Amino acid sequence: MSRSRAGGEPVSGGTGERILSLLRQKKMAHISGEEISHLLNISRSAVWKQIRVLRAAGYTISAEPSKGYSLDASPDTLHPSEIRNGMKSLVIGRRIQSVTETVSTNASAFRLAEEGAEEGTTLIADFQSGGKGRMGRVWASPPGVNLYCSVILRPDIKPVAAPQLTFLSVVAVARAIERLTDLKPRIKWPNDILVNGKKVAGLLNEMSAETDKVNFVVLGIGVNINMQAEQFPADLRHPATSLFIEAGKTVSRTLFTRVLLEELDDLYREFINEGYAPVRKEWLEKSRLEGALVTVTDSGASRSGRVRGIDEYGALILENGEQILSGDVVIV
Ligand code: BTN
Repeated sequence: MSRSRAGGEPVSGGTGERILSLLRQKKMAHISGEEISHLLNISRSAVWKQIRVLRAAGYTISAEPSKGYSLDASPDTLHPSEIRNGMKSLVIGRRIQSVTETVSTNASAFRLAEEGAEEGTTLIADFQSGGKGRMGRVWASPPGVNLYCSVILRPDIKPVAAPQLTFLSVVAVARAIERLTDLKPRIKWPNDILVNGKKVAGLLNEMSAETDKVNFVVLGIGVNINMQAEQFPADLRHPATSLFIEAGKTVSRTLFTRVLLEELDDLYREFINEGYAPVRKEWLEKSRLEGALVTVTDSGASRSGRVRGIDEYGALILENGEQILSGDVVIV
């Protein structure tokens, strides 16, 4: 799988990445061409050539004759080295593959997992030509604006407990939104994220399992980050939005992805060590569903009741003891 960058040549893995790493270490200060050439054991003209390649790829690198080069800005292109820069994550995202285009990151990640990709491997695409939503729907995936990613996990759990990971990922997305914006995301059962009543993110988790054992789970996460109103399909079943529309400002996709992977990593390690209880508690807080009067519609039939909580398999439990496994929930 390859990655090329919008507006430029791919940054050649080796030297370009190493120059970037030196520039980043200097933060906004300068480093001379001579020092780079000495540290990387390459000629001054090779340094200059790579700086041109980096600029063509969207990096803003200024040059001052007496001081050298400084990295002023990086493009928001979801490049693995940009996402990993300063990332505090141990398992999730330790391997990131980023592609300009794929049919569906879930389908690609599923194949990678079948081929043995290690736990935490994350696949990101700038554009999906066939993004999958829940219940066979299409997930609108225009290029350059959003996040489409799939994370491979290999937890030692029974298949029946796999929905717990969906709840975990939805909490991670809500935390990332809270960390990077002033918005107040609300979780809509089972796994949508709403901002101001409109859907901003969705989860589609897929699993390979035997009767009693999960082989792997693919967490598929789509977040509308900088999508503009006119980019939404006209025939959406539910109102949708983006962080850009709600917050009124652009959110860096690279930063959002880094923060999301950190939150997933944090929650997943807690889940492995302490089980599902902390996730369930935070999910309930962020859904603000506990005690709420809801109407659930499923295949045309509606039921109403007050929510007691969610059970260990992700079912919604009403105060009358009814267990709801699927449907559309509306708070009355
Ligand atoms: C939903 O319908 O709410 C779920 C949407 C899930 C979309 C994400 S985008 C990344 C991953 N790849 C896919 O094809 N789907 C999921």
